[in-house]
Amino acid sequence: MKTIEELLQEATQKIQDVKDSSSLNDLRVLYLGKKGPVQELMKGMKDLSKEEKPIFGQKVNQLKQDLSKMIEEKKEQLAALEMQKKIESEKIDITLPGRKPELGNAHPLNLVRQELEDLFIGLGYQVIEGDDIVDDEYCFERANIPKDHPARDMQDSLYIDPNRLLRTHTTAIQMVVLEESAPNLPIKVVCPGKVYRRDDDDATHSHQFMQMEGLVIGEKVTLADLKGTLEFMARKLFGQDRQIRFRPSYFPFTEPSVEVDVSCHICNGKGCPTCKGTGWIEILGAGEVHPNVLKMAGYDPKKCSGFAFGVGIERVAMLKYGIDDIRHFYTNDKRFNSTFKRYE
Ligand code: PHE
Repeated sequence: MKTIEELLQEATQKIQDVKDSSSLNDLRVLYLGKKGPVQELMKGMKDLSKEEKPIFGQKVNQLKQDLSKMIEEKKEQLAALEMQKKIESEKIDITLPGRKPELGNAHPLNLVRQELEDLFIGLGYQVIEGDDIVDDEYCFERANIPKDHPARDMQDSLYIDPNRLLRTHTTAIQMVVLEESAPNLPIKVVCPGKVYRRDDDDATHSHQFMQMEGLVIGEKVTLADLKGTLEFMARKLFGQDRQIRFRPSYFPFTEPSVEVDVSCHICNGKGCPTCKGTGWIEILGAGEVHPNVLKMAGYDPKKCSGFAFGVGIERVAMLKYGIDDIRHFYTNDKRFNSTFKRYE
């Protein structure tokens, strides 16, 4: 049997070397358990003499106390160490940058549309939208384009059924507004929206695009009023130095009709690739509302008159931002769209 000193030495070494609390518990059972050496020593006491018993008993008790104390201390040490490890393994690196939510921005076509709306609201206009699907009646008949009229060919159209189609111009909204307002005056509206035509898409054509229609009806509203209004618009959009000019043109729903050019904002009218060397850029079609259109809507063309214009939103956006291909607006390339953040 090992002596008390040997036992103490051996156990001390083992307790010192132990690496985790479960092995420490095994050691406790091994030395202090019912079948352990300490208990064994206690049992052996019965064979000792009366004088030896208290001295030996004291020594064994001391051994028991020493071992318990060592184990207890080691237990605390290990618990602290294990906690330390746990804390280290769960550490979060708070120096990592946070995740930024990605913010979108308005589409360039909406930027132009908003700019146009703001400008006309400032002039006292109302903004009115209509349906994308319209009756043939409002898209063509009321616009003085009867069934056999060649002007229909220019807007070769997307029909839903024989009487309904995707509107080919915002003039369709104009006709609805006219009818709904009659016989009240004045009318001062802008009507923005998408329009559709059966067209082959290329850099300057799209089967779907946006227009904004303007309509003013009142007493003695003339081409001079139209010119002043469009000049104001051109200057707001393209800079205070812009001039505009009217060229005679033809639309079935206006008489007289004009094409409107703005002096080139890139070369200031000197001639450059953007204006194809002419110094002028065509931006819209317009005219005095045709008497037939007024009559069909329920107005007396002898008592009132007015002007209408239709501006292409893509066209304005392309000129304003220097975009060379209309398809960029519709392919949803984030790199293209995010370019317009700075304009908001
Ligand atoms: N609706 C015509 C177009 O789409 C534009 C226009 C509108 C012309 C109003 C004159 C008056 O081309």
